[in-house]
Amino acid sequence: MPRRAPIPSPPPALGEARGPGRTGRSCATAGAAPGGGERGAGVRPGLRGTRAHLVCPPQAEYHKKYGKIFRMKLGSFDSVHLGSPCLLEALYRTESAHPQRLEIKPWKAYRDYREEGYGLLILEGEDWQRVRSAFQKKLMKPVEIMKLDNKINEVLADFMGRIDELCDERGRIEDLYSELNKWSFESICLVLYEKRFGLLRKNAGDEALNFIMAIKTMMSTFGRMMVTPVELHKSLNTKVWQAHTLAWDTIFKSVKSCIDNRLEKYSEQPSTDFLCDIYHHNQLSKKELYAAVTELQLAAVETTANSLMWILYNLSRNPHVQQKLLKEIQRVLPENQMPRAEDLRNMPYLKACLKESMRLTPSVPFTTRTLDKETVLGEYALPKGTVLMLNTQVLGSNEENFKDSSQFRPERWLQEKKKINPFAHLPFGIGKRMCIGRRLAELQLHLALCWIIRKYDIVATDHEPVEMLHLGILVPSRELPIAFRQR
Ligand code: HEM
Repeated sequence: MPRRAPIPSPPPALGEARGPGRTGRSCATAGAAPGGGERGAGVRPGLRGTRAHLVCPPQAEYHKKYGKIFRMKLGSFDSVHLGSPCLLEALYRTESAHPQRLEIKPWKAYRDYREEGYGLLILEGEDWQRVRSAFQKKLMKPVEIMKLDNKINEVLADFMGRIDELCDERGRIEDLYSELNKWSFESICLVLYEKRFGLLRKNAGDEALNFIMAIKTMMSTFGRMMVTPVELHKSLNTKVWQAHTLAWDTIFKSVKSCIDNRLEKYSEQPSTDFLCDIYHHNQLSKKELYAAVTELQLAAVETTANSLMWILYNLSRNPHVQQKLLKEIQRVLPENQMPRAEDLRNMPYLKACLKESMRLTPSVPFTTRTLDKETVLGEYALPKGTVLMLNTQVLGSNEENFKDSSQFRPERWLQEKKKINPFAHLPFGIGKRMCIGRRLAELQLHLALCWIIRKYDIVATDHEPVEMLHLGILVPSRELPIAFRQR
């Protein structure tokens, strides 16, 4: 019989010591919007010069101390944390038709205020299902995604030139994270809007810079309205609300103009185009299309850039892995031949490297669910309305799930795959609401690795530890100690 006894919880002082009261933002806000850290899904400023952030509660420590399920209260925010494959599997098996994540109220408030639509990050119920199905047909189908390799390669070719330009004599790049975000932004925009913004050129135009500034402002303001009620900001017309609204206005203006151009360009033959096909063959309004595409972009940029950054770091610290990866790339791709999506079929080690990197250094540390019905998980019956924090990061660092978990060993995905519990590796989330951009992100990252590793030896410039900070997504505590040396 499921228990109704209290779920173990850290003493309030422990939980609250690092809660929103001190940091000015709640970690809970982050998992609700992948890529929605305070630094945002845009092009992030360098680590230097940004204001200090505290690290979120050490979830792994809490799970060790309180078990695979515990309850935590941070101010008025009450949540139940899950940190084991069996509980996540139980959740997956009982999930409802339209699972919900934690609400991002400031985004909804803006959309309602301006009568704009909702995208996949904030939609719920049957509307979410309809929009999700419309995009899923293209975004989750391998054959459809493979067709995008040309566009991804076009941006990667430019990115290689950009790396050459930016490297100093030791192969270091100042503010590498920002450069990776520019690559990711340019790449997803070419896929979504069929438009180049010129961010990989020396002088990006005003349009691109304004767009990116607006995304940064929108992201840096919404966190504050997650911890103090957005209705209050709106009714008092606070500076934060004004900045947030203005930022969204700029974002929607850019997105609408890009989408309208694309729809017009393919109006004669809509089925030949990725986006027009989605629009014309589904019952989506223009308003829904604008909102859904905007949120795809927001969810895509920083998560993908961050994942590339961490794998480069892991390869720099594991030269033997990098050497083996280079051999595989050279075996499959003749010199000077562009990598194609179909070449990746013959690169199991490359795929294992990315998986291993996402296990050890994931971009998104957790996701959330709000239960829409009473749910039994393990020994506990959780009432409708419970907010669940699915601590996916802690799974990867647990010895019970992964032997020698602190080691970067891609071979585990090839030799011991059968022993790995699929619910112990969830970097893209779980179930019906899992990341819709997963296949696109993987294609971008696999192709990027082919280009980069073939051309550069990624070397560690020091061997001091690099910590991961929770800023919505997991970022390094300092400028990454890596350099690009031409082979
Ligand atoms: C390596 C890169 C990426 C990572 C690590 C990542 C991770 C995630 C995670 C953890 C979630 C939450 C899933 C859940 O709640 O179960 C998510 C949702 C989502 N992601 Fe990604 N993501 C990445 C790239 C992308 C890209 C490239 C796109 C767009 C093309 C995208 C679009 C979305 C959207 C729209 C959702 C919400 C889906 C829904 O609720 O139906 N993501 N992502």
